[in-house]
Amino acid sequence: MISKLMLFSLFVSISNVYSMTEYQDKVKPLIQKNCLSCHGNYYLETWYRELPIAKQIINYHIQDAKKHLDMRDDSFFKSKGSQSDIYWSIAKSIESKRMPPNYFSIFHSNLKFNEKDQLFLINWFKKKSKELSDE
Ligand code: HEC
Repeated sequence: MISKLMLFSLFVSISNVYSMTEYQDKVKPLIQKNCLSCHGNYYLETWYRELPIAKQIINYHIQDAKKHLDMRDDSFFKSKGSQSDIYWSIAKSIESKRMPPNYFSIFHSNLKFNEKDQLFLINWFKKKSKELSDE
C-alpha cells in the first residue's frame, strides 16, 4: 500500500526537480552574464579584460564575489545563512539595484535587466525563499 508519507515524499522530490529545471530554463539564462560571471562559472568575453591592470581588478572582484556568494552549484548556493536567507538576499540585491555592482553596469549597460525580467527574478527568488523556509 502506498502511504501518505510516500506520496508526500514523491511530491516533494518532483517539485524539487521541477524548481531545479525552472531555475535552469528560466532563471539561469537571465542571470548568466549579469550575476554568474562573478558569482558562478560564466566566462564573460570583454575587451577590457585584456588591459593589464583591469585583468587583475576583475579577477580580484570575481574571487571576492564568490567568497560572499557562490552560485557555482545550481542546487546549493553558498553564503552566510540558510538557503532560504540566501535566496532572499539575492532577491533583495536585485530589487535594491545593489547588484550587479555599478562598476559592472557602466561597462555592460547593454546587459541591464528590462523591467519584466527584473520583476520576474525578484518574485522568483522571493517565492523560492518562502518555499525553502517552510521545509
Ligand atoms: C562584477 C562582479 C559582480 C557581479 C556581476 C555581481 N556581483 Fe554580487 N557581489 C560581488 C562582490 C565583489 C560582492 C561582495 C562585496 C559586496 O557585498 O559588495 C557581492 C555580493 C553579493 C551579495 C551579498 C552576499 C552577502 O555577503 O550577503 C549578493 C546577494 C549578490 N552579490 C548577488 C548578486 C546578484 C543577484 C547579481 C546579479 C544581478 C550579482 N550579485 C552580480 C560582485 C558581483
